[in-house]
Amino acid sequence: MAEKITTRTLQQMKAQGRRIVAITAYDYPSAQLADAAGVDVVLVGDSLGNTMLGYDTTLLVQLEEILHHLKAVRRGLQRALLVADMPFLSYGVSVEDAVYNGGKLMQAGAEAVKVEGASPRVLESIRAMVGIGIPVMAHLGLTPQSIHQFGGYRLQGRTASEQERLLEAAQAVQEAGAFCLVLEVIPASLAKRITESVPIPTIGIGAGVHCDGEIQVWHDILGLSEKTYRHTKRYAELRETIVAALRQYADEVRLRQFPAPEHSFEVEK
Ligand code: KIV
Repeated sequence: MAEKITTRTLQQMKAQGRRIVAITAYDYPSAQLADAAGVDVVLVGDSLGNTMLGYDTTLLVQLEEILHHLKAVRRGLQRALLVADMPFLSYGVSVEDAVYNGGKLMQAGAEAVKVEGASPRVLESIRAMVGIGIPVMAHLGLTPQSIHQFGGYRLQGRTASEQERLLEAAQAVQEAGAFCLVLEVIPASLAKRITESVPIPTIGIGAGVHCDGEIQVWHDILGLSEKTYRHTKRYAELRETIVAALRQYADEVRLRQFPAPEHSFEVEK
């Protein structure tokens, strides 16, 4: 097995200018495939609410649901750093809850947790989690748990004042102890400024090419999503491939072409 990726590896990768490759995964086979492809970071994102559970937003995701998928991913992963999303309300209410819930995710096999935003309560929670040995990945920009506050999935950091606020937030999460920062759907020029202004690695999604790494959602880049997005690229069209395979299976069963003799059993007489 190639060298195990740790939080320290990511810091070294930034220092050496080596780009970090991250992807979401939600189950045992996808974790194995991500490792086979040499991806550096696997995130059990709360996007599983949309991709795996059919929810409209990530706000509906429960800690138990993350734990369920996290345990499956843990069993399939050996090399990549495994990060688990902290779902809405599992942090940001009280620091004690954040530490306890973050600890539960670590006990289920996460090697770091991810939180959205930089409110005073979130910063306090980052400090407290880091204080007991839980590495924290921060997440700024278009943070989906705040979607109703943003009024939709819109580019963040449009104005000069919003850009200053995001630069300050990046500084604040880093000072609170975050080891890494996800930047979602912000202008590429702003992501570049943030990346240059913090010592921790930045991982972009819809944030241009200047971040220290990139993260994408499994279903989006493999063509399993119904929708297409500007910030993503479909490297395969698995939805079409799977529907075609299932149609052929259905046709062959109906026409009695499958199972053929070679798929069947008989006792020797
Ligand atoms: O939940 C998720 O998948 C995420 C990534 C898009 C960064 O937070």
